[in-house]
Amino acid sequence: MSYYEDHSPGYGARPARARLSTDAPTLDLSGDWRFHLAPTVALAPDGFWSLDFDDSSWDVLPVPSHWPLHRYGIPTYTNIGFPFPLDPPYVPDENPTGDHRLRFHLDESWPGAVLRFEGVDSCARVWLNGHELGVSRGSRLPVEFDAGPWLRAGTNMLAVRVHQWSSGSYLEDQDMWWLPGIFREVSLIARPAGGIEDVFVHADFDAGRGKLRVEALTRDDAVARLSVPSLGIEGVPAGIELVLDQVDPWTAETPRLYDAVLATETERVALRIGFRTVEVSDDLLRVNGTPLRLSGVNRHEHHPDHGRALPPGTAREDLLLMKRHNINAVRTSHYPPHPEFLDLCDELGMWVILECDLETHGFGFSDWQGNPADDPAWTDACLDRIRRTVERDKNHPSIIVWSLGNESGSGRNLDAMAEWTRQRDPGRLIHDEGDHEGRHSDVYSRMYLPHAEVEAIGRSAGRPFILCEYAHAMGNGPGGLAEYQELFDRYPRLQGGFLWEWIDQGLRQGERIAYGGDFGEPYHDGTFVIDGLVFPDRRPSPGLIELKKVIEPVRLSVDGDRLTVTNLYGFRDLSSLRFELELSSDGVPVLSKAIDVPIVEPGETVEVGLPSLPEVDGEGWLTVRALLATDEPWATAGHEIAWTQRQVRKPLQTRVPEPVTFDEFVSIPRVELWRAPTSNDLQAAMTEPGAVPVAEQWREAGLHRLQHRVIETRNGHLRTRVGSAPHPPLLTADYSWASEEFTVRIEPDRPLEIARLGIVLELPSDLDQVEWFGLGPGEAYPDSRTASRIGRYRATVDELQTPYVVPQENGARAGIRWAELTRADGTGLRIEAVDGPELSMTVRRWSTEALAAAKHTDELVPSDRLYLHLDVGHYGLGSASCGPGALPAYRLELAPTVWTMRFRRVAGPSRG
Ligand code: GAL
Repeated sequence: MSYYEDHSPGYGARPARARLSTDAPTLDLSGDWRFHLAPTVALAPDGFWSLDFDDSSWDVLPVPSHWPLHRYGIPTYTNIGFPFPLDPPYVPDENPTGDHRLRFHLDESWPGAVLRFEGVDSCARVWLNGHELGVSRGSRLPVEFDAGPWLRAGTNMLAVRVHQWSSGSYLEDQDMWWLPGIFREVSLIARPAGGIEDVFVHADFDAGRGKLRVEALTRDDAVARLSVPSLGIEGVPAGIELVLDQVDPWTAETPRLYDAVLATETERVALRIGFRTVEVSDDLLRVNGTPLRLSGVNRHEHHPDHGRALPPGTAREDLLLMKRHNINAVRTSHYPPHPEFLDLCDELGMWVILECDLETHGFGFSDWQGNPADDPAWTDACLDRIRRTVERDKNHPSIIVWSLGNESGSGRNLDAMAEWTRQRDPGRLIHDEGDHEGRHSDVYSRMYLPHAEVEAIGRSAGRPFILCEYAHAMGNGPGGLAEYQELFDRYPRLQGGFLWEWIDQGLRQGERIAYGGDFGEPYHDGTFVIDGLVFPDRRPSPGLIELKKVIEPVRLSVDGDRLTVTNLYGFRDLSSLRFELELSSDGVPVLSKAIDVPIVEPGETVEVGLPSLPEVDGEGWLTVRALLATDEPWATAGHEIAWTQRQVRKPLQTRVPEPVTFDEFVSIPRVELWRAPTSNDLQAAMTEPGAVPVAEQWREAGLHRLQHRVIETRNGHLRTRVGSAPHPPLLTADYSWASEEFTVRIEPDRPLEIARLGIVLELPSDLDQVEWFGLGPGEAYPDSRTASRIGRYRATVDELQTPYVVPQENGARAGIRWAELTRADGTGLRIEAVDGPELSMTVRRWSTEALAAAKHTDELVPSDRLYLHLDVGHYGLGSASCGPGALPAYRLELAPTVWTMRFRRVAGPSRG
């Protein structure tokens, strides 16, 4: 059996230990390495590891990197199935093998030094100056080899052979791109005699006191001493337990860290200590005694150009975005992230479920026969993975739970991993999403359950419940977030969840963003990798904006002249916020004022009186906002945390002249019942066995190709029958216009679920400046609209498009009172909602058919006109792409409907 196919974790590695910030000399070996890629192991050059091997004809590759993102081979995307035959522990002969060589210089020899790899995907064999150091697997886990004996003053040569596929691949079946390479840093770390090998900080917080014990493992039995200057601790020998009366606890809301140094005579290690106690008590997951409310996301490490080799700064960018969107928890799906991310979680404050690099999902294709999570042949490999996970990251206060892995079924090796973890680190909890019975998992964790099932769990007793994945953010969606949050708020047992997922894992391919299949992969899972809350370039999607609103840590509501403020934080009062009200008339702000709110303790609600407000002429709205009063490390003063809006005066109906006649439109208005299917429309709800995707039902009914027949015209009135082949007509549509008012009346022939109900108008393409009074600024759909608020907004037609990586329905602006579409000279068209159900609007440069046909955004080519949709109904978004469809209240049925709009000409700026 070859070394890359045996069941073992490899050989030659040093025992796993914490990643330490040391003053021992360290040499970063990142940079340009010599590189050669062979399509099979057999074709890889023999003896490439020897010092005198001639690599002058080889290419140069930056390390860290993934070679397929540097034009060598291709990335491959699969979700569940392995991209090779399920034949464990063997892999195909077609096994891309990347040989890497680096010459580096040392002024003197470094006795005792170790060579550390932070991440190599998937199997590395390492030689230093021609001597083999060992073999490692575990792509997202660090490994260290003893290098000292072979290092020398002068030129040294490091050679690393990396196989894309190995036995380790069977343990790494996460739903993501397969991206081989040395994708995290490589470094050489001097290990002085009498230095510090490993450190384990135990820092508890209990009843206002800190308990601190720092375990140290040193070389040569050296004594390590701890100093924490701000706590008055100076040179206390490691291992002694200290009880401290005056410490502030660490929480994700108040991430207080104490700088510490652990030192022997030859090495100093810097530590940042956070005091907190994690436990389950009274069936609740608590930190420092307080139950947690997790508003989390699943985060893969992804960059559109660099894959999982994240450029510096990316981790911080993610965390700042998360904090600014009220997210307080991250599950590191589905492997330990780059260590920098965890340093920042400690510093900025984030609850972390740290997941081991283990997933064996593809064994589902053999009915879980031979599942490595159960088969004793793989026990060492599984234990090796959890050991390297826990040992590397054990000193991060942000990590409160160890997760054994993802979608690996169940079995003995998971049990063994849990047992080892509990012994090694009793200070944290264990999560295993496949362990529904609670064999070893401290929390009951499920994914994608529909609301009703979550509610049933909320009503019952047992272990604390979390949704480790929910609300699949694929394409336009998810819908139904607010309803999940209501359940989390209502039932204490439901301690929140983690949305799937943080970022769209699209890869840049020339001008466009690519997904599965775009690189010609023979076996792939298409668009399923595009399911994030931020686009690949990290611009927030509407889903993230909705999430921010739904999980607000401060709840505001206005009733008459009273404001109610509820503090949903667990650990901080609201003294860091200021409150502000704004009164608007027809969307135009007329007054704004600060509101005095007394200190609100965690979990408390207070009511305050609002100042009396002047009468307004138009439709009046009161907006109350909670803003940061001062800068935080993650946002500046003025950043909005929460808001609420309340109508204070109903609109007036105004009479206006200047009707528009229909010959000014490029087409006459016609009824539309279809939309370009969203990623959610295209999948059957997982929770309804046998269900057909709604998009398929709509297609079956022919909603995408309606035909219209005029059956009656009178002055100002048109009656049509509308249907589609081969079925009998669906409805009668009456269009009538009386002076400036245009009324549509729909009389269905039979009930039917439809995508939308509205009309479409084709307009000249230069009417591309849009202003509206209604909900905004972003898009709003029936089950994803809490983030939009009443106001007056402006955008160009191009700005109204949401750039979903896979083109689909997007960009609807709801609650339209009026909208104006004007051209550069200010002339154009005004639409007013007069009567009937709420009006929503989309404007595009392409038709619904073109939008539905496009597979990538660069296929959306502007036509010579605008398509203006005025809708009185939209089917909810749901999250059927993985999970439940739209809740019943948000499904759309064809029903008798009448609505009236007013069309006016906008004469240009002279009219004001
Ligand atoms: C889950 C899985 C995730 C991802 C998601 C769907 O089953 O844990 O990794 O595949 O489904 O996008």
